[in-house]
Amino acid sequence: MKTTVSWLCPRCWIPTCVSASPCWGRSKAGSASKWAPATAPCHWLADQVGPSGHVTATDIDTTFLDRLSRPNLEVRQLDVTKDPIREGYDLVCARALLHHIPERLDVTKRLAAAVKPGGFILLEEPDFHSVLATDSPAVRNFWSGFIAWAANCGIDYYIGRRIAPALDQAGMTEIDVHGETIMFQGGSA
Ligand SMILES: C[S@@+](CC[C@H](N)C(=O)[O-])C[C@H]1O[C@@H](n2cnc3c(N)ncnc32)[C@H](O)[C@@H]1O
Repeated sequence: MKTTVSWLCPRCWIPTCVSASPCWGRSKAGSASKWAPATAPCHWLADQVGPSGHVTATDIDTTFLDRLSRPNLEVRQLDVTKDPIREGYDLVCARALLHHIPERLDVTKRLAAAVKPGGFILLEEPDFHSVLATDSPAVRNFWSGFIAWAANCGIDYYIGRRIAPALDQAGMTEIDVHGETIMFQGGSA
């Protein structure tokens, strides 16, 4: 089983990259989006697997998945912490999901178990290490407070560094980690 982990910095919420997998048979997007831009990867993946393939897009709240429309694309409401997850997928992909879920280690194992032998898992999660790398005390103070508030709510914004060990524990092999950091200027938004 092969795995890829991406770190995202706080400002680069990019659509899930599903192009890492050469196995296009029966695949599943572990979490599709509430946010319109993330529906595009679901449609793209459905087009890639073709009429004989199958894609499942899931979220605990499928409100924004209802706009998905492909004959080989199934939308399923699923709580990844406890609902049964089918097995035997060539690709399991989740973006910006695990850092929200206190049971993230168990969920990582559940997602890994859904991958068939030789298949892939692609997880994209943030690691906010870069936000404290600033010369501005005000910016550092803001992010320190934000991260502390998030941790108090059960959100792990340092999960990026923890996914590879979690996948190792889940029995995955050939783990590859890619991190990106984007610089941004205050007031430029
Ligand atoms: C930050 S959003 C990311 C959405 C999407 N994956 C993306 O990349 O744009 C986190 C998503 O996780 C979903 N979520 C939270 N807890 C969940 C759970 N227990 N099972 C399944 N999805 C969950 C939320 O409904 C939300 O859509």
